[in-house]
Amino acid sequence: MSIQLSPLNEVQLKALEQLTQGAKPEQVIWLSGYFQGLAGSATLGSLAATGAGQFDSAAPTEKLPLTILYGTHTGRSEALAKALCEQGSTQNITCQLKPMDDYNPKHLKDEKNLLVIVSTHGEGEPPEMAEDFHAFITGKRAPKLEGLNYSVLALGDKSYKLFCQTGIDIDQALKKAGANELVPIVMCDVDYEEDAAKWTTDVLGELAKFQPETPTQAVSEVSWANDAEVYSRKNPFQSKVLDKVRITGRESDKEVYHLELSLEGSGIHYEPGDALGVIAQNPPKLVKEIISTLGVIDNEVVETRIGKLPFNEALEHHYEITLLTRDVIQKYAEKTGSKEVQAITDDEAKLDHYLFGHDVLDLLHEFPAKLTATEFLDLLRPLPPRLYSISSSQKAFEDEVHITVSRVRYENKGRQRYGACSTFLADRLDVDDDVLIYIDKNPNFRLPANGSPIIMVGAGTGIAPYRAFLQQRETANQKGNSWLFFGERRFSSDFLYQLEWQKYLQKGFLERIDLAFSRDQEEKVYVQHKLKEQQEELFRWLENGASFYLCGDMKYMAKDVQITLLDIIKTQGGMTDKKARSYFKKLKKEKRFMADVY
Ligand SMILES: Cc1cc2nc3c(=O)[nH]c(=O)nc-3n(C[C@H](O)[C@H](O)[C@H](O)COP(=O)(O)O)c2cc1C
Repeated sequence: MSIQLSPLNEVQLKALEQLTQGAKPEQVIWLSGYFQGLAGSATLGSLAATGAGQFDSAAPTEKLPLTILYGTHTGRSEALAKALCEQGSTQNITCQLKPMDDYNPKHLKDEKNLLVIVSTHGEGEPPEMAEDFHAFITGKRAPKLEGLNYSVLALGDKSYKLFCQTGIDIDQALKKAGANELVPIVMCDVDYEEDAAKWTTDVLGELAKFQPETPTQAVSEVSWANDAEVYSRKNPFQSKVLDKVRITGRESDKEVYHLELSLEGSGIHYEPGDALGVIAQNPPKLVKEIISTLGVIDNEVVETRIGKLPFNEALEHHYEITLLTRDVIQKYAEKTGSKEVQAITDDEAKLDHYLFGHDVLDLLHEFPAKLTATEFLDLLRPLPPRLYSISSSQKAFEDEVHITVSRVRYENKGRQRYGACSTFLADRLDVDDDVLIYIDKNPNFRLPANGSPIIMVGAGTGIAPYRAFLQQRETANQKGNSWLFFGERRFSSDFLYQLEWQKYLQKGFLERIDLAFSRDQEEKVYVQHKLKEQQEELFRWLENGASFYLCGDMKYMAKDVQITLLDIIKTQGGMTDKKARSYFKKLKKEKRFMADVY
């Protein structure tokens, strides 16, 4: 494409070339429809700028009104909602796209067509921004919605007990309110792209039936497989390992590694707070053990979910085998007809107990069954990429991305267990080796734009994003206004990036640091105890507009820190429980309380 022949500048031309390179014919057709709609859209620019707004297609007929609501934590539902809105705009639809926390649910009764895209977080809970909408629609005040057409796309992860619970709740509530289901709810697991694309095609097809006039444009197949995107989960970048160092002492009972990966030539851009997706590989030893237990030929070519592959390769690269999930154990019970396995799945407590620390090889050992290689693969879920909080700033390391990885290894029932990706990175990957990566954006974990105060709380590898935060602040020469609370087991062996924090303290980029080393004294000291000790000052920081960040273990640390913070707000603010809760809620709404927990 020549710059002289087009009204686009060089950067825009490059972006267009990247977008269309290798695009399939149907994608080019879709894009041409999209650009046509764009040409007639007066308000598209504002959508791009604000992330929400209205799309108007250029079609001359009366347009079909559609409201799309999304509830997201890590941004996937938002990206899908935006793409759906763009697609709708090419099909004679006036689309109102809204984050759930910016939508007054009282307006529901005025809607004609509503599509909801929502994920589930915590233990089956709505993402923060969906809490109020979820409470309203599932509560007593939900209105009758008989004139409303709707459908729900739910995002989740089958390894959680309450799979896609928020989407299910909202779907049931809309049904109960008398709304008309356009297409049944679709519940997406970690590999959500294809299911999401099918739902989108289906709902737009159903909506087309309600068009005032038959639209001239046919509903085209949508693919969120993102192969038009430069680098993504489905199309990762092949990066090189530049450096790898163990950053816990030899006497530590934890093995934490700092890895530096090259982005050279990728054009990849990330921001502090984003995560790095790494395409995982399973431990070869486990693959071998599974194959010998099944008694099949290791390189037998078998049908897999991505075509024909040697069995050992399929197990090593494409299926989850180091973890056991609810859906897998349920399928195993059904396939083998084992009453013992069924008894485990029928009892919540037994199931929880069995899921912890067991893998598919335990099932094969403890409840043997004759399965072919293909039958075995049919039981398994795809191996999802693993996400690591990025521990570098691109302002400081232009062509690099750094991560902080804790190696997962433990013993159960006399067998060593290894985490898939952490042991791949720690044990089987050396400097100069290649690794497949992509950026997983996290718009809900961002530094404040203006250098205002930040309180960073992290335990273990939860410290990673704060290293990126301080690198970023150093490059912007933003001193002070930063307070780090870090917790680990022992000062001598587990103080991750100790020298760097000391340097930041000296230079003034880090104003304060409080450390909790739980095993350095008789009684256990954790980060929440340090927060409590500093409660007066901490509340002062909050009152002065500080943003509070929380990163690390979800099960224990995150819960305890939130309880402590609420208690501090109550005590220091002299508030009732109710007032303190609404203060906390406001912090979350203003994005001054941000959590990245796992
Ligand atoms: C801390 C955490 C807790 C989660 N809890 C659940 C859950 O209880 N049920 C579920 O189906 N998915 C759960 N998920 C998976 C998310 O719903 C899934 O990653 C989804 O694609 C995220 O979409 P979003 O980016 O729009 O928030 C959880 C994810 C995280 C990180």
